[in-house]
Amino acid sequence: MPRFDPHPDRRPAIVTGASSGIGAATALALAAAGHPVALGARRVERLEDLAAKIVADGGEAIAVALDLTDDESIRGFVRRAEDGLGPTEVLVSNAGDVQPITTLADPGEFARQMQVNLLGAQALVHEVVPAMVQRRRGDVVFVTSEVAQTPRTHMAAYVASKAGLEGFAGAMAMECEGTGVRVGIVRPGPSATEQGSTWSAEAIDEVVASWRHWGLLRHDGSLRPAEMAQAILSMVSVPRGTRYAVLEVQPEAPVRSAEAQQEGEP
Ligand SMILES: NC(=O)c1ccc[n+]([C@@H]2O[C@H](COP(=O)([O-])OP(=O)(O)OC[C@H]3O[C@@H](n4cnc5c(N)ncnc54)[C@H](OP(=O)(O)O)[C@@H]3O)[C@@H](O)[C@H]2O)c1
Repeated sequence: MPRFDPHPDRRPAIVTGASSGIGAATALALAAAGHPVALGARRVERLEDLAAKIVADGGEAIAVALDLTDDESIRGFVRRAEDGLGPTEVLVSNAGDVQPITTLADPGEFARQMQVNLLGAQALVHEVVPAMVQRRRGDVVFVTSEVAQTPRTHMAAYVASKAGLEGFAGAMAMECEGTGVRVGIVRPGPSATEQGSTWSAEAIDEVVASWRHWGLLRHDGSLRPAEMAQAILSMVSVPRGTRYAVLEVQPEAPVRSAEAQQEGEP
């Protein structure tokens, strides 16, 4: 007798923030691995294009509007995803927002980012995970950030929300122990996505100068979304009996020439 029932053949997955970056790459990777995928975000046309690509490649996908600042949108998203694909076996809570605000920022803006990154994730869990617990199986992945472990300046709400999300995920993993629901954290380092693409040039200059001051910019390497997607896919694909609790993924530093290294160049 195996210690655990194997995963079912059909494992519908929900991916939030699937309209760009890590979420879009994760949806593609999950679909290529045979998961039907429900794509959630606000920019529905992008989701529809991605779903069409997945279907054209022989996969199964649906595009469903989701705004994590709106509880009714979250409820409707899960209902439509499950009506379309069946009960959720894999939840990838990936959507996130980051704006360059400090700890002294306007509380409304601070709260909005907390809502997307932390409270929205909990509301999603509330809609999806009780049924997983009843079925005695499921995978939940929270995409956090290295800033949860190493705070950065000029990202006050982001740092607070990602640290909160890691605390939440840790408590949830304990509460889900013995239910068959596996809970894990995927913690990206710097990644080349649309994150930060709406920041003004002045804001970027100010933020980068501050990070340099604090020694936070080690090298120019950055992860590609497909590389993050592989980490998420491996977390949900590991056979039953194993649980990946935390996967931190960092970009490898660009390789220096031997001469530069000998001359002690940083
Ligand atoms: N890029 C990095 O360096 C980095 C590093 C560490 C962690 N991360 C984390 O990785 C995750 C993915 O981000 P990314 O780097 O791929 O950035 P991205 O390309 O900007 O993607 C962010 C996604 O979140 C969605 N989103 C934002 N606000 C939303 C809302 N209110 N409701 C629903 N969806 C919303 C966006 O979709 P719509 O705008 O269409 O709604 C988009 O699909 C985030 O949790 C981010 O914090 C990124």
